[in-house]
Amino acid sequence: MMQDSQSMPSGQDVKDYWDRRFGHESSLLHSIRSQSELAGLPNIHIPIHLGRFLYLLAKIQAPQKILEIGTLGGYSTAWLAQALPPKGQLISLEINPHHAEKARENLDQLKDVQINIRNGHAVDLLAQLVDSKEGPFDLIFIDADKENNALYLDWSIKLSQPGTLILIDNLIPKGSKVGYPLNEEAKSIYAFNDYLAQHPALETAVITTLVGPQAKLDGLAISYVKNANSK
Ligand code: SAH
Ligand code: DHB
Ligand code: MG
Repeated sequence: MMQDSQSMPSGQDVKDYWDRRFGHESSLLHSIRSQSELAGLPNIHIPIHLGRFLYLLAKIQAPQKILEIGTLGGYSTAWLAQALPPKGQLISLEINPHHAEKARENLDQLKDVQINIRNGHAVDLLAQLVDSKEGPFDLIFIDADKENNALYLDWSIKLSQPGTLILIDNLIPKGSKVGYPLNEEAKSIYAFNDYLAQHPALETAVITTLVGPQAKLDGLAISYVKNANSK
């Protein structure tokens, strides 16, 4: 780790160090990152070591059915899918047809499990999942457009059972500093955090994360569903 006698390691140093020591990335996962980059997808997938963390959380949960909101190139999808048993199911929702198509290609090798990437606005696709009674899911990962997180959480609880884990990425906005005028995305994220913190159906803990190429400070919520279908 980069360090001199005067200073602590930076966020970037720590992120790179965790990724190298504890990323334990398979060749499939590595190739999903490089293929996504080649295809010009934005470099906003979860960090390697956070993928490992989500995978282990999922493994402890022993899920049969996983739901993801926000697929991008399928990087987080592949980490979560590796925690499924044979014939386990993962549905991932993605609004951008180019992202959805690239993700399908990237995930083609994962044959033991059923991965279904659905293209559309997550709000519409979540309503369809409820209508068609495709729930409940054992684990739900919310990682799409942050302004809609409160809606995604409400739908996710409808698609849960007691004991479902709901994981939510990016609880800290990038565009505005605390104490300065907030942009709209930042306002909605902080309002969502207040909603999440007080939600009576959930027990929630947060961890601090280091995301993106610049290892920016961010947060991930881990919410345990106590009562499904309640507000
Ligand atoms: N989970 C991915 C990263 C997702 S980035 C990973 O860590 O590998 C966020 C994704 O959400 C983008 O692909 C974006 O196109 C998608 N998205 C944005 N708004 C959406 C919406 N309304 N419905 C579904 N997907 C959306
Ligand atoms: C960014 C990071 C994310 O994890 C995400 O889901 C969306 C955007 C970002 O750093 O801009
Ligand atoms: Mg994210």
